[in-house]
Amino acid sequence: MKRSTLAAFRMNAKIFSAVVMVLACCSSLAAARSPKALKSLGQGHRMTSVYNFEDGTGFVADLELIKRTEIYGPDISPLRMVVRYDSDDQVHVHITDSTQTRWEVPQDLIPRPAVPTLALKGESNAAASNGRQLELSYTVEPFGFAITRTSTGECLFNSTPPIDSKTGEAGFNSMVFKDQYLEISTQLPQNNSMFGIGESTRPDGLRLMRNRTYTLWATDMAAYTVDVDLYGAYPFHMDIREGGATHGVLLLNSNGMDIYVGEDLLTYHVIGGVLDFYFFAGPSPLAVVDQYTKLVGRPTPMPYWSFGFHQCRWGYENIDDLRYVVDNYKKANIPLDTIWNDIDYMDAYKDFTFDPIRYDENKVREFVEELHANGQQYVLILDPGISVAYKNYSTLERGLKDDIFLKNEFGNNYLAQVWPGPVFFPDFLHPKATSWWTTEVADFFKKVPFDGLWIDMNEASNFCTGSACSFETSSLGTLGMLRGNDSSNDQCILRCVNGTSRFDNPPYKIDHVGTYNNLGDKTIAMTVKHYNGALEYDAHNLYGLSESIVTQKALQTVTKQRPFILSRSTFVGSGAHTAHWTGDNKATWEDLKYSVVSIINSGMFGVPMVGADICGFAGNTTEELCSRWMQMGAFYPFSRNHAAIGTDSQEPYLWESVAVSSRKALGLRYRLLPHLYTLMFEATKSGAPIVRALFFSFPDDLETLTINHQFLVGNNIMVSPVVYPGHTTVNAYVPKGTWYNLFDFSKVTSKGERFVLSAPADSINVHVHEGQILPMQEARLTSAEVKKTPFTLIVAFGDASFASASGKLFVDNGVDLEMEVRDGSSTFVQYFAERSLQSGSLVGRVISGDYALEQGLVLHNVRLLGVAMSPSKVFVNGQPIAAAEQLKYDANLASVEITGLNVAVGKDFEIKWESQESVGWASQ
Ligand code: GLC
Repeated sequence: MKRSTLAAFRMNAKIFSAVVMVLACCSSLAAARSPKALKSLGQGHRMTSVYNFEDGTGFVADLELIKRTEIYGPDISPLRMVVRYDSDDQVHVHITDSTQTRWEVPQDLIPRPAVPTLALKGESNAAASNGRQLELSYTVEPFGFAITRTSTGECLFNSTPPIDSKTGEAGFNSMVFKDQYLEISTQLPQNNSMFGIGESTRPDGLRLMRNRTYTLWATDMAAYTVDVDLYGAYPFHMDIREGGATHGVLLLNSNGMDIYVGEDLLTYHVIGGVLDFYFFAGPSPLAVVDQYTKLVGRPTPMPYWSFGFHQCRWGYENIDDLRYVVDNYKKANIPLDTIWNDIDYMDAYKDFTFDPIRYDENKVREFVEELHANGQQYVLILDPGISVAYKNYSTLERGLKDDIFLKNEFGNNYLAQVWPGPVFFPDFLHPKATSWWTTEVADFFKKVPFDGLWIDMNEASNFCTGSACSFETSSLGTLGMLRGNDSSNDQCILRCVNGTSRFDNPPYKIDHVGTYNNLGDKTIAMTVKHYNGALEYDAHNLYGLSESIVTQKALQTVTKQRPFILSRSTFVGSGAHTAHWTGDNKATWEDLKYSVVSIINSGMFGVPMVGADICGFAGNTTEELCSRWMQMGAFYPFSRNHAAIGTDSQEPYLWESVAVSSRKALGLRYRLLPHLYTLMFEATKSGAPIVRALFFSFPDDLETLTINHQFLVGNNIMVSPVVYPGHTTVNAYVPKGTWYNLFDFSKVTSKGERFVLSAPADSINVHVHEGQILPMQEARLTSAEVKKTPFTLIVAFGDASFASASGKLFVDNGVDLEMEVRDGSSTFVQYFAERSLQSGSLVGRVISGDYALEQGLVLHNVRLLGVAMSPSKVFVNGQPIAAAEQLKYDANLASVEITGLNVAVGKDFEIKWESQESVGWASQ
């Protein structure tokens, strides 16, 4: 807001004293300091005026600095704070310079309600009511604000420092607001558990550690480097309080930052932008993800085929290599949906080109057409750097014409270096970037009808460091070398000048890669300009998100189908556009283990379609590791085997033992495809992660907060993988209830305790919890084949004398842009079952049935688990089943199998059963 507007605003403003609220919570916590706390950095701010929105949904307040300090640059004052109850479960707190516009995450990347500035009269669905789950209060001097859970009065966030009663010292600094340094802390109780803040690889598990700094700066740092900032940035966390109530906190800010988690405080040290907080009331983990993804973007639907298995490697030399791999999968009877090409296919690593010899375009097209005829897909990689080393490269020429490349501080196209040697980076924030990129994608698609795009190196990764670089044509001689098969060819061949500006060397250094590295190291220089003068310094963390958005639009335009995009760099909101993989891991048991936490975290960040490189990317895998990894990876939402160049081949058919365990685990995955796809559908509606931490389903069970190597697929399927060499058992935590092994239907009944589960070399433990009805189909070698097979419903009852179960099924053609329950184009069915000791029923209630009817999808089998008496009669839609052989009872497993049904998936149905002893039924 400009000064003049501010003056007008002031004239209208009520005096704050009329509406002062007193902080009632978190008043006396012990003092604790972040190691980076700025001792004696002034006394923070005072609130000078406050103006309530007329519609009662919040207020605008002015804040004024109490005492200037010069550390980390001059303070900004006055500040403008806007508080808005966006809805009953969300409060928005926005604090910025009152007089100058500052950098914020652009609206076109994450569309959201604008920050209100003047009187509001009840527009939108903001909460003026009494139903608010969160309440904000503040102190006037020194200024601080607190968020309280209305139902319990518990304080969830409190930026006012506690004062040590003995020393009179403040526990942390009051808010600090400078051009290149923002600091704000909250008091924390000591017995809460926090999750999120990423992206990093976490050997310590899911829970955020105390006395740790989490740094957020998108970086091409191998994922096997633990506890440092990696490819993506998520200033979002979830906080579970004693008793299980969960809330979420998002600081919507794209600048670099350190988030320090102390014993009793959490401090944000941010190097730019504004303080833009959203507090989500939960109160369950799923509700928090729902509220968060509603704001930042619901996960985009992924094509059905992308839930099949994927094979990739860096170093498939030519098209015959790909064909060989696809053939061998088939020979080994291992499912394979999609084969991938890494940068090997390109001509001199130029995007949108094929190597004329090794990957002759016509041969690639022929190959892809064969794949399509076999119900398989082809995905290839694109890196953002556009080669500038060659003449007549039309992608470059068109980009130059549209002037969409990033500019250095002198206004010239910014030169960097990646695989092709010298490159320019497209500015995906440029309004013309979408049409340019779409043209390139369209031309490329005409050459080869690929099925998805993998956008890599988009942090962006640069082999050089420097604010302005140049290259000698003579140095291009080394490009031949760069094209070789040596992954170590990432030496800078450009001549670069290192930047010395305040953006290259900000006053506060974040703990980049754990060594306080310069922000511009091996990436785009901080002084580089995006469209409209936006600085890389501010927009850095958004490069991957902006590329994902543009790529998604391009694919939607070109293919008219649901895009599949895999992006390495991500930010808050990326899930609305892409899938993600956890980056360059290593073929080690540690990396196998850590992948569970990384995948769960991505789901929590709103990017549910996620996987890790199965069998390990860097280094040579081993037979046993690869076997265990294929087993675990079969239950990642995105399941892809990928390896680095120069490493031994690791396709699962290469070892008989790996082939056996892959067939088994992927066999179950493929049978579960209808369920996985239904989970995708749910994710698009509520953000619910496909793979979740155990505490998502068992929030009352504190033990689940510490489980890092087991995970849930959806609500109720628990995967307990082997993550140690030589082990043939798993010491698994089994939350309360009855669980059925999905391979052999054996049962575990738990009070919430550990069990040693047998896990022979070829087996992984996958259990379904009581209460779930799972729609399954038959295993085939491609998802397209599975889609045609008859359905089975697995109904898992608990042990109680009366038990119930429910489930859902969503089916559509798998590639429509929208994933919606819609007459004519999809089918959505809800299943309910209940049983007493002697009888029971299972019903399907169809919300929209057309698609399944049109496709002739039928339910053939039902397996009831947890039925203590053998049914004597079974009725389907009122008719007894035709033949006795259709009914099998296994007393040991307490399992009933009803086969040979012919029930339309797209129609309501009812199946009833009755055991001999039950008089009522027996008399029919
Ligand atoms: C990056 C990617 C990796 C890919 C390689 C070559 O390291 O993370 O997956 O194989 O580049 O393109």
